[in-house]
Amino acid sequence: MRKNYVLIPAAGSGSRMGSGLPKQYLPLLGQPLIHHTIAIFAAHPAIEQIFVVLSPEDVDWTAPACERLTVLRCGGDTRAASVLNGLVAIGGLVDSLDWVLVHDAARPCLSQQLLEHLLDELQHDVVGGLLAVPVADTLKRATRDGRVDHTEPREGLWRAQTPQMFPYGLLRQALQAMDANAPTDESQAVEFLGHAPRLVLGDGHNLKVTYPEDLLMAEMILKGNL
Ligand code: C5P
Repeated sequence: MRKNYVLIPAAGSGSRMGSGLPKQYLPLLGQPLIHHTIAIFAAHPAIEQIFVVLSPEDVDWTAPACERLTVLRCGGDTRAASVLNGLVAIGGLVDSLDWVLVHDAARPCLSQQLLEHLLDELQHDVVGGLLAVPVADTLKRATRDGRVDHTEPREGLWRAQTPQMFPYGLLRQALQAMDANAPTDESQAVEFLGHAPRLVLGDGHNLKVTYPEDLLMAEMILKGNL
């Protein structure tokens, strides 16, 4: 039976929030944001273990009460480096075909239903895949001075979310192969090896907290008001 592991890269500084505290530690309903993220996976019985990758210099981390949680202080300069360092660190524990679900620390509103849906849809897939939503807005290509150069067709375009779920061996090989060309998500690295990850329909509630207004939105979603 293939096991499911979760790896949460949380070594970013979150500079777009304009706050001194990294965004994964901002208070959300009385707890650090990342505690909500960890609780999603801790509540799911099919998750074997949760790994959180922190920066070695992190002084803001506080541990939530969670038995299946392991902290790895091996974050790198990019998200991809943090994920790869985490994968290397857990190499002795995880089999090549076990699933690794990589999830942004800053996505605290993933629902149990959506996590269940992702696990169901991908458990027999040979490549793996990711949650994503079709692009709804009209897309503009900007000129350097902030005017519209032209309108991009949005047909067939999706916004990638997380979790991104791949077999451990494939994901590690893919991130090692891309090396310095840091991919912005795990799927990009797997695509680089010539595979076609599966797009699993996500939802808008699974937002990534990036700007200050996103925190308010996350609070409303977690309270069930959205
Ligand atoms: O900055 P961004 O929102 O793209 O970060 C996505 C996730 O990757 C966050 O959880 C962040 O903490 C993590 N990250 C990391 N190491 C970095 C940069 C980002 O673990 N060097």
